[in-house]
Amino acid sequence: MTTALIKNLGRHVGETVTVQGWLYNFRSSGKISFLIVRDGTGLVQGVLVKKEVGDELFALAATLTQESSLKVTGVVREEPRAVGGYELTLTGLEIVSIAEEYPITHKEHGVEFLAERRHLWLRTPKQTAVIRIRSEIEQAFRDFFYQRDFVLADAPVITPAACEGTTTLFEIDYHGDKAFLSQSGQLYNEATAAALGRVYCFGPTFRAEKSKTRRHLMEFWMIEAEMAYFDIDDNMRLQEEMVHYVIQRVLERCRQELKTLERDVAKLEAIKLPFPRISYTDAVELLKKAGEDFSWGDDFGAPHETVIGNNFDAPVFVHRYPTAIKAFYMKPDPNDPNVVLGADLLAPEGYGEIIGGGQRIDDLTLLEQRLAEHKLPSEAFEWYLDLRRYGSVPHSGFGLGIERTVAWLCGLDHIRETIPFPRMLHKLYP
Ligand code: 4AD
Ligand code: MG
Repeated sequence: MTTALIKNLGRHVGETVTVQGWLYNFRSSGKISFLIVRDGTGLVQGVLVKKEVGDELFALAATLTQESSLKVTGVVREEPRAVGGYELTLTGLEIVSIAEEYPITHKEHGVEFLAERRHLWLRTPKQTAVIRIRSEIEQAFRDFFYQRDFVLADAPVITPAACEGTTTLFEIDYHGDKAFLSQSGQLYNEATAAALGRVYCFGPTFRAEKSKTRRHLMEFWMIEAEMAYFDIDDNMRLQEEMVHYVIQRVLERCRQELKTLERDVAKLEAIKLPFPRISYTDAVELLKKAGEDFSWGDDFGAPHETVIGNNFDAPVFVHRYPTAIKAFYMKPDPNDPNVVLGADLLAPEGYGEIIGGGQRIDDLTLLEQRLAEHKLPSEAFEWYLDLRRYGSVPHSGFGLGIERTVAWLCGLDHIRETIPFPRMLHKLYP
């Protein structure tokens, strides 16, 4: 007997196959029963006709509860009206486990209720669509870097020093020493870039964010790249090609999932290269024209990013931020030392910053000075300073938050649905 995945049923029309999965829904007229079965790859309707299969099997099917696990066997038929476009005319049914009364029924549930049952919520069509798109996005990033001869060089998760300021550190006890969960793999990427040229890392990063927003998680996954001999312009070019590539992959391979999510794909299809670029100073002018109360030197909040982003149909790079609001490692602009050669990429449709990046300080003395200004302990950064002592080169890099990118491409209004098990403020279960 052939076992088949629901998504591949089109290859088996006219054949008898077995599908292994769970009961999603059941209805019966007494003479004919319809079993909607899910297997993780899709939904299929199994049709059970009492006259054909006999009383015993027909009665057995009636004992099935929502989410009971089962194996159904039947002949695959094309049926445009059925969910997924195929139907199984059932000849056999094996019950694997009868489920207890399932808490998530087919009516609407509040998001609090669902979040408490995230391990079960994940079984619903929209949630599986999001996780499939996330998987495609992660694969697309890896493929992009692989095609361009980048080396994957994973960064540590436990670190002795802060990369992105000391206010969002998760501290841990490291056999009696103080250590932190990594906020970013960047500093290690700078070391591996000096060893290998072009590198990236992809792993979980941690920020003890004190605020509850639709864009912030305590634990999120970041794709970070670092390139020797890249300046700020090389850096932005690489990023836009990467983001464009990932959008095309999702459009090409996740049509069904985007449809399930009712994503307006025209907005994604319209995105062309190159992406617009605007300086921080010009962005401030945009904000003022839009009536925002904002002064040069302030950092953008989510509403500001939305206003800026709304001026463009594609993601927009905002570059050359004030030195005072950016991290210690950002290289000052030689033409204007009040700003740095950093650039963030803001997604359209109100999704805000998805990438933070820039050119790094390559001068030892300036870097030492910045560490002191930011009151960072120089002992923890000695190894990092070595990178400027031994063969320093101009170099640049960036970090892209996977969850914010997934939220944007899927058109979701909250980041909590972009990762199987989100870690949010005061929310650690399940
Ligand atoms: O702008 P950030 O803080 O940049 C860095 O960490 C750099 N060291 C990266 C680098 O150059 N290698 O963070 C980068 C991205 C943000 O643009 C955002 O997409 C995401 O990480 N991000 C978060 N996503 C979810 N929840 C949070 N709390 C996030 N903080 C940052
Ligand atoms: Mg940032």
